[in-house]
Amino acid sequence: MEEKFAKLIIEGKEYKLPIIKGTEGEKAIDISTLRTESSYIAFDPSFGNTGACFSKITYIDGEKGILRYRGFDIEDLVENLRFVEVAYLLLYARLPNPKQLQHFSDMLTEHSLMHEDMRHFFDRFPRGAYPMSILATMVNALSTFYPNVDAQSMKENVGRSAARLISIVRTLAAFAYKRSVGEPVVYPRNDLEYCANFMNMMFDSPVKPYEPDPEIIKILNMLLILHADHEQNCSTTAVRTIGSANVNLYSTISAGINALSGPLHGGANQAVMQMLKRIEKGGDIKKYLERAKDKKDSFRLMGFGHRVYKTYDPRAAVLKKSCHKLLKRLKIEDPLLDIAMELEEATLREDYFIERNLYPNVDFYSGIIYRAIGIPEDMFTVMFALGRLPGWISHWKEMVDQPHKIVRPRQIYTGKRKRKL
Ligand code: CMC
Repeated sequence: MEEKFAKLIIEGKEYKLPIIKGTEGEKAIDISTLRTESSYIAFDPSFGNTGACFSKITYIDGEKGILRYRGFDIEDLVENLRFVEVAYLLLYARLPNPKQLQHFSDMLTEHSLMHEDMRHFFDRFPRGAYPMSILATMVNALSTFYPNVDAQSMKENVGRSAARLISIVRTLAAFAYKRSVGEPVVYPRNDLEYCANFMNMMFDSPVKPYEPDPEIIKILNMLLILHADHEQNCSTTAVRTIGSANVNLYSTISAGINALSGPLHGGANQAVMQMLKRIEKGGDIKKYLERAKDKKDSFRLMGFGHRVYKTYDPRAAVLKKSCHKLLKRLKIEDPLLDIAMELEEATLREDYFIERNLYPNVDFYSGIIYRAIGIPEDMFTVMFALGRLPGWISHWKEMVDQPHKIVRPRQIYTGKRKRKL
């Protein structure tokens, strides 16, 4: 018979802790009443072994390399759906029928324009400002322009708020890029679907109209789908944590964007590119491998390793395959792809990487694809944010739809004991 409780003995006293099981067989011990009953807390810095919520959105098996949104394998989703359909799936827990999809697309179209006054903000950021910082600032600023942004109103209008965010962030991202290259902004067009609209805002210019390439639009859909959710990662945890204080959705998402910008998280896609370029210049893969292995050196092989995946990241597998196909199709020979592959192969011969299960993650090959479709390097993490939006909003929605408490971990105090002044 399966155990319903775990027994914990502390100082001779036995505590019965309920065992929880997920639909895919994941097991946990519920310690939520442990402190009240025993005065002990669980200690798990960086939450590597802590389940913080029940969630029905995304399933990962880090040992087998499985990633599913709402039960569907990521490989099937990228093959058969567009990003907007996957966003709907994440948000509403079902695949949209044609009428629902039309309604959702109409809402995205309706909200693609930002308040015109917001556009002037772009003129005040210094040239060369990091686009992720601009994006986070602008998303936070949305809460000053749009009424009824308190958590309760947003909960009631979540469809509208989600559509506005998913649509406007795309416009903000493209405007930030245009500003960074000193070109006039291009407004969204109602006749273009989500990804084509984004590429048009990025690359259309008064002197050279943008001609959407269906293959590139398909690749962009794939990239955004692959990034759309990844359960309780750092930025999603930030969203759930900030959101638990009933902060409005825009400010909550802004916090997620800031968390994602870190080089250990989404910012790794840009860092990978910089690393590959340095290797290209110096021509020495071995040196970087040695540095990555050296515990006295803070350097890490960017785009490698993952808290959850102890095998090949399934997103990286899709990206690697697509990378080859796309470059061939666009007739691009990118030396950085050769270096990336050489680097990956070299790690497979090194005990250090084998023993620690360090394989390429989602950020390793994505940059080479972004580069091939013309996305500049400092926009890579913005692209990640664009893809991750439906995930962040779905987690926020899931949290506010359930009874929840403010997130508030405890600590073990190790400072000075009481002393006199
Ligand atoms: N290069 C060299 N060594 C590494 C790397 C790496 N990229 N990643 C992990 N290690 C080593 C680490 O030094 C440690 O060794 P030891 O056991 O001897 O102390 C061991 O592997 C375990 O690493 P960890 O730091 O305990 O693992 P973590 O789960 O805390 O960190 C990670 C996960 C993704 C932050 C880390 O692997 C890393 O820094 N990778 C490089 C940055 C990166 O690519 N980030 C993108 C992650 S995927 C997309 C996303 O989430 O945004």
